[in-house]
Amino acid sequence: MTIEQIKLVHFRNYDQMTILPHEGINIFFGQNGSGKTNLLEAIHYCALGKSHRINQDTGAVMMGEAGCSCQMSVRNQYSRNDIEVRLRPGEENVKSVWIDQKKAARLSEMMGVLRCVIFSPEDLSLIKEGPSIRRKFLDMMISQISRNYFVSLQQYRAAMSQRAAILRQAKIDYTRPDPMIVDFEMAMVGHAKVIYQERVKYTEMLSTIGHQLYQQISGKDTEDFIIHYRSQLPSEENDPLFLKKLLEKQREDDMRQGSTQSGPHRDDLILTLNGKHMKSFASQGQIRTAALSLKLAQMKIFTRITNEYPILLLDDVMSELDLNRRMNLLDIVSGVQTFITCSDEGDLAEYQNNRTYHVHNPEGIAQVELIKEGPDMHKLKFSEEPVFE
Ligand SMILES: Nc1ncnc2c1ncn2[C@@H]1O[C@H](COP(=O)(O)OP(=O)(O)O)[C@@H](O)[C@H]1O
Ligand SMILES: [Mg+2]
Repeated sequence: MTIEQIKLVHFRNYDQMTILPHEGINIFFGQNGSGKTNLLEAIHYCALGKSHRINQDTGAVMMGEAGCSCQMSVRNQYSRNDIEVRLRPGEENVKSVWIDQKKAARLSEMMGVLRCVIFSPEDLSLIKEGPSIRRKFLDMMISQISRNYFVSLQQYRAAMSQRAAILRQAKIDYTRPDPMIVDFEMAMVGHAKVIYQERVKYTEMLSTIGHQLYQQISGKDTEDFIIHYRSQLPSEENDPLFLKKLLEKQREDDMRQGSTQSGPHRDDLILTLNGKHMKSFASQGQIRTAALSLKLAQMKIFTRITNEYPILLLDDVMSELDLNRRMNLLDIVSGVQTFITCSDEGDLAEYQNNRTYHVHNPEGIAQVELIKEGPDMHKLKFSEEPVFE
């Protein structure tokens, strides 16, 4: 798919901005704080209805303004769609999504209209940090290819917080539970099953493709990068009501602790290299290769499942990769519409790209200037023998 037009109004440091990106590689360079990541964030908003970097929406509105809008015109092989996310923090419905100028009744309707994969230096935390980051990665990935998954995730969370509210609120006799709590637990169990099955399925794909990519990027076929899904739920052949029993058993504990101790919201991905946990022993270089492998595997899964390239967003990662890896990366992404940010135009001087923009921030308002049109070829080739495929 291709973004043909980006229009931002009062989004972060963008006042009013329209650009028509190239269907190939678009480079945005500019000093720190000029607004490059903000632009990628706007694309992410139109893919998933939220930021890739923060959970609250309020910071996205330009200071001093009541609301903002990000709008993308997206073309895929079958159709052309306009997708818009509007935020108005003062109002009851802070966020609204508009597809082809019609207000969507549910956030799930936007999933899949614009699919993106973002890779940024913070992605090293996928390997180094706690489970919530890995769950978020999986959830954002699967939501973009399965609306059913996204809906289950939303409903699971809603049922979990309703159950927690009952536990908080009343002195319940745990031997004779409030019938409502049983309903919410049943709802959690049903949605957990969908969440679990989809996560296991996509983790297997991530592992197979990620393993291959890791070896190609590192150039070492002795390094086995494997990803496992770790869950409290037993696999399918076991008792499907395992979680139900756990929830029942843990009501009192959950009430005391003020959190729900069991369920897919506690699951994790375990990343290993040659059988050892990467989190505790991997080198910086191995962590970087693993993070890049995960993101490129995500891109390949999107392409395989939907028969369509996603949009690729590379935020400030080029300077972190050595020349060879940069070339290989750009080689693998040929054919994919790509948005690359960097702080210095010189960082990417050795590449042919399709369009180069300068981003600057005079008086706190971002300006994006088209400064160079590269050769108009969609498929750019950088090395004789592509390393990735
Ligand atoms: N709500 C907002 N209103 C106005 N400016 C904002 C808002 N949020 C962030 N900014 C500005 O955006 C800039 C940061 O943009 P960012 O895209 O992260 O920079 P970079 O080019 O380094 O990636 C900062 O100058 C910051 O002050
Ligand atoms: Mg940035």
